[in-house]
Amino acid sequence: MTRKILVTSALPYANGAIHLGHLVEYIQTDIWTRFQKMRGHECWYVCADDTHGTPIMLRAEKEGISPEQLIARVHAEHSRDFAGFHVAFDNYHTTHSDETRHYSEDIYGKLKAAGLIEVRAIEQFYDPVKAMFLPDRFIKGECPKCGTRDQYGDACESCGAAYAPTELKNPYSAVSGAKPELRSSDHYFFKLSDPRCQEFLRRATRAVCENQPEAINKLQEWLGEPGENKLTDWDISRDAPYFGFEIPGDNGQSTGKYFYVWLDAPIGYMGSFKNLCKKKGLDFDAFWGKGSTAELYHFIGKDILYFHALFWPAELEHAGYRIPTSVFAHGFLTVDGAKMSKSRGTFITAESYLVQGLNPEWLRYYFAAKLNGSMEDIDLNLDDFVSRVNSDLVGKYINIASRAAGFVAKRFDGKLDTRHLNETFRAELPGLVDAGEEIAAHYEARDYARALRRVMALADQINQYVDKHQPWTLAKQEGQGAKLQEVCSLLINAFRILTIYLKPVLPKLARRAEEFLNVAPLHWRDAAHLLPPAHLINPYEHLMQRIDPKQVDALVAANRESLAPTVAVVPAPTSAQAPSPQRHAQHQQATEDKTQGQAEPKAQHISIDDFAKVDLRIARIADARHVEGADKLIQLTLDLGTETRNVFAGIKSAYDPAQLVGRLTVMVANLAPRKMKFGMSEGMVLAASDADGKSPGIYLLSPDSGAQPGMRVK
Ligand code: 2FM
Ligand code: ZN
Repeated sequence: MTRKILVTSALPYANGAIHLGHLVEYIQTDIWTRFQKMRGHECWYVCADDTHGTPIMLRAEKEGISPEQLIARVHAEHSRDFAGFHVAFDNYHTTHSDETRHYSEDIYGKLKAAGLIEVRAIEQFYDPVKAMFLPDRFIKGECPKCGTRDQYGDACESCGAAYAPTELKNPYSAVSGAKPELRSSDHYFFKLSDPRCQEFLRRATRAVCENQPEAINKLQEWLGEPGENKLTDWDISRDAPYFGFEIPGDNGQSTGKYFYVWLDAPIGYMGSFKNLCKKKGLDFDAFWGKGSTAELYHFIGKDILYFHALFWPAELEHAGYRIPTSVFAHGFLTVDGAKMSKSRGTFITAESYLVQGLNPEWLRYYFAAKLNGSMEDIDLNLDDFVSRVNSDLVGKYINIASRAAGFVAKRFDGKLDTRHLNETFRAELPGLVDAGEEIAAHYEARDYARALRRVMALADQINQYVDKHQPWTLAKQEGQGAKLQEVCSLLINAFRILTIYLKPVLPKLARRAEEFLNVAPLHWRDAAHLLPPAHLINPYEHLMQRIDPKQVDALVAANRESLAPTVAVVPAPTSAQAPSPQRHAQHQQATEDKTQGQAEPKAQHISIDDFAKVDLRIARIADARHVEGADKLIQLTLDLGTETRNVFAGIKSAYDPAQLVGRLTVMVANLAPRKMKFGMSEGMVLAASDADGKSPGIYLLSPDSGAQPGMRVK
């Protein structure tokens, strides 16, 4: 029976690069949807950029562009990265779309009509300089528990305490540096505490998490015991200025309030699918209408289970839409057993992985070998990555084709002989064909780890067959031509079947294998039969290289952020490669190594437009302090006229903080904020130095007298 299946992955925010942590989910989902398509089902995979909210608005402002320009650029970057990892969405849309606006207004209107929206005033921190209410993450201050400075408004990174922003001591706005004020404003709430929502969630959402006991436990904890009312109403509005959709008022009147980004984000799933329906002539209601028999699955990270298992089904239910069949949550990625880290070089972006020339299918295979459908975290152990890909993929699977192909080409002009293979196949490789349904069941259950273990056990069996029959020995023996052709034909057929089983994980490799095998795109059902008796195959070209551990070392080096960039002791790039941050970091590293004690080569030419991208500003050093525990850093508070910035500068070897207070310097004001061990660094001051950047040769730049904080340097 052909199933109708709609699948989504969580929508990535449109203000950051895709990194390996994101890719766990997109690769997991892509494997599943490719598998369903190979099984002959009607399966659609949609996603979109999550484009609304304060961080995106502020980021665009910082870059001096409109939010629309920012989200268009990031959409292109995300699309490039996903394509690079063979993540094949049927549609990759944006939440800033007519479709998402339509369904946001529609769902809101229906919830309101059902009496599930309530307006009430709340008090919140307001930035009087920036004239905006501040999300918790944009309020900083001293932790109320341990006193650590520069902690965010929701939790302390030093002692782990969670609190309300109003509990911070000496709070300040991370946007302008101003002291925030408490102000009251009307907010719109979705009444999750309403008995109808409580009752519905108790009844329905267990099923939504049906295959994941960890998720069911979480839900149980959030919902509490029957009779308990633990759910609180959900604040779905934000005040202007906000980048998002305005909440419609009665009779077309303006409310001046915007849907909170998390209200329209999942509605972006519908928006993206609606957009696909328009392109393909599909029936939207057949998938989203109440009573739809289609299956609907959301792949998500465990951190956003709350939104997907509670808010989202409750909204859909009470707005008259179907609810998801299941939500599939996965764990986080660790690298070498620890959280991804920029200083260790393990916060690896998708772009840098590809730019460094690593094969995306190595990572797809490795992630698949670790994913088992649970919410456990998965670890990318870099040594294990190298050895597993090399031993499994190249050593076991690819090896089968490469051991047989040469003989078929040289001795038999590419012709196979499978006339007598059927029985031999079953006798020599028991289970190879029959394993298909078992492997399929593992894919279906998202237990790719088991599926691949089974496939590799089959590969072992096939390699034992090679060792037993030794085609290289047969090739040297008189009168063994027919036997050699039969052995090699069996191996090529076995390789073809393994290719089918691996195709959801390795789509590009499978395409190249199909060319070599001279066959049409393989479906799952093709594993049940052999190639025709005198089938011709194409000349073999090596299908996959081994990983050289040096490539992994180079990748980590390229992603390692040293403390040095907080001062722009700008080393010169030495080649004409694109100026991605990763490349830049790599060049910096390479140049530092090479230029010890030498004059620095001049940088290559850039265009005036490239230069204009760097927003250089005059800054007054309002405060300078030693950083406890840091050998090289001074913490600077930089006054830009309309806002202040916190910057950690590696200039301690050359300056005493007291000397610096009050002087003017030049800073890069549009450098993406960077989280460091000691707090957030929100820019970079400029200094000259020798090639080695060492003490005492660090000279902070100063403008001529008359320059004012905030002036642009051009
Ligand atoms: O956590 C995130 O990255 C969100 N952008 C995910 C949104 S998923 C869905 F609800 F849109
Ligand atoms: Zn603390």
